[in-house]
Amino acid sequence: MVEVLIAERGDLGGAELDAAERLVRSAFGSSFRSHDWLHAVEGVHVVLTAEQSLVAFAAVVARTLHHNGIAFDTGYVEGVAVRADQQGCGLGRLVMDHAENIIRTRHQLGALNAVETATDFYAARGWRAWTGHTQAVGPAGVIDTYDHADRIYLLHPAGVDQPFDSETALICDWRPGDLW
Ligand SMILES: CC(C)(COP(=O)(O)OP(=O)(O)OC[C@H]1O[C@@H](n2cnc3c(N)ncnc32)[C@H](O)[C@@H]1OP(=O)(O)O)[C@@H](O)C(=O)NCCC(=O)NCCS
Repeated sequence: MVEVLIAERGDLGGAELDAAERLVRSAFGSSFRSHDWLHAVEGVHVVLTAEQSLVAFAAVVARTLHHNGIAFDTGYVEGVAVRADQQGCGLGRLVMDHAENIIRTRHQLGALNAVETATDFYAARGWRAWTGHTQAVGPAGVIDTYDHADRIYLLHPAGVDQPFDSETALICDWRPGDLW
């Protein structure tokens, strides 16, 4: 039986975070860098366990995205991972159901930057690819962040019904490492 824990920021202990980092690193492989994990640590964590062993994980990190002059309180999804021997059994769906519920209940907008092999997974769940330009608000002002390797997806919960305009940049807040 799979148990679901929603751990608020700072709730997980060192051993639990270490286990989550190992799971996420192994799911992402060599493309995963140390600051990628630091991005996930700051969030609310969705932790799935079976027989007291971690089988899936996701983090929803509070960020601010700007578009068309509006600031959106955003749940930015990081570190979505299902243990390799458990993939294809519905755990990805379950962990994202909970991550999206956090977005719907606490934030105005969901966002993530998907790995290439997972884009269809998010698209099938209603996430929409952002095809427009991207920028970030840095210490020196607004900078361009467009990178063809980014695959940014947005989830518009109820209440944010106006379509985003791809002619106008989507702007994120600053953070160390990859900005998106
Ligand atoms: C992507 C990942 C989270 C999916 O988890 P999973 O447990 O294998 O997925 P599920 O079994 O819950 O599948 C749910 C649905 O998504 C589909 N699906 C699963 N992985 C998919 C993928 N990579 N692309 C497209 N569809 C996918 C399944 O076919 C299933 O469809 P259905 O509802 O029509 O039957 C998992 O494969 C994983 O951890 N991958 C490595 C890390 C990664 O890529 N994370 C995402 C980073 S952005």
